[in-house]
Amino acid sequence: MLISENISFRYRKNKKQTLSDLNVKTDDGDLTAVMGESGSGKSTFLAVMAGILKPDQGKVLFNGEDIYSLDDRKLSDIHLRHISYVPQSNIMLKHLTVIENIICAFKETEDEGTLKERALALMDKLGISELGEKFPYELSGGELKRASLVRAVLMSPDILIADEPTTGLDKVTGDRILNFLREYADGKRSVLVATHDEHIKDYADKIVTIERSLR
Ligand SMILES: Nc1ncnc2c1ncn2[C@@H]1O[C@H](COP(=O)(O)OP(=O)(O)OP(=O)(O)O)[C@@H](O)[C@H]1O
Ligand SMILES: [Mg+2]
Repeated sequence: MLISENISFRYRKNKKQTLSDLNVKTDDGDLTAVMGESGSGKSTFLAVMAGILKPDQGKVLFNGEDIYSLDDRKLSDIHLRHISYVPQSNIMLKHLTVIENIICAFKETEDEGTLKERALALMDKLGISELGEKFPYELSGGELKRASLVRAVLMSPDILIADEPTTGLDKVTGDRILNFLREYADGKRSVLVATHDEHIKDYADKIVTIERSLR
């Protein structure tokens, strides 16, 4: 469970407040969608929830603990094992194959064969099982999004945060991703997405709308 309590945030150079007093609760088993017009602050909110952008005010509680009050070691453990974040733009490493990108963060602590097996099963579910040995630049936008999702869920984190997971994709691929996210949430995990995709309404338990700040 991940809860934002009275979150406010303003980028230093901007005059306007980006997020004002946002309260959002994602329960285990919930798929929560954040919607709102372009520039309203969806990506900013997701980055705050993911523990990578400290809010000016408010708390982000993971299992009751404010993640911004944790020391670096604990916060990095949270990032590695508990809260996964897939940003809006692709962040695959150029010089590694897709499968290496997916497993690289965990190779030090887990058996490589097991990681690869798990990655392939997830890739198969998302229809990209043939792409493991390719490099990121050889993939389409939709394939990259699916590969990034596989990387994010590889170690079954409690919380999955995905920014625009279906943007720019055809309906079949988009639905495949939304089904995957729904199933992931149904495994007693919390999924938080930002999206413009109206189809999300068929999948989400909760829609949070962020209004563009006037102040
Ligand atoms: N690094 C940054 N520095 C300064 N301002 C930023 C930064 N990132 C975003 N902004 C501004 O903050 C506001 C919210 O941006 P954000 O990316 O959160 O919107 P969004 O709702 O995700 O938009 P989109 O639907 O286009 O992805 C915008 O006005 C944007 O210009
Ligand atoms: Mg965005």
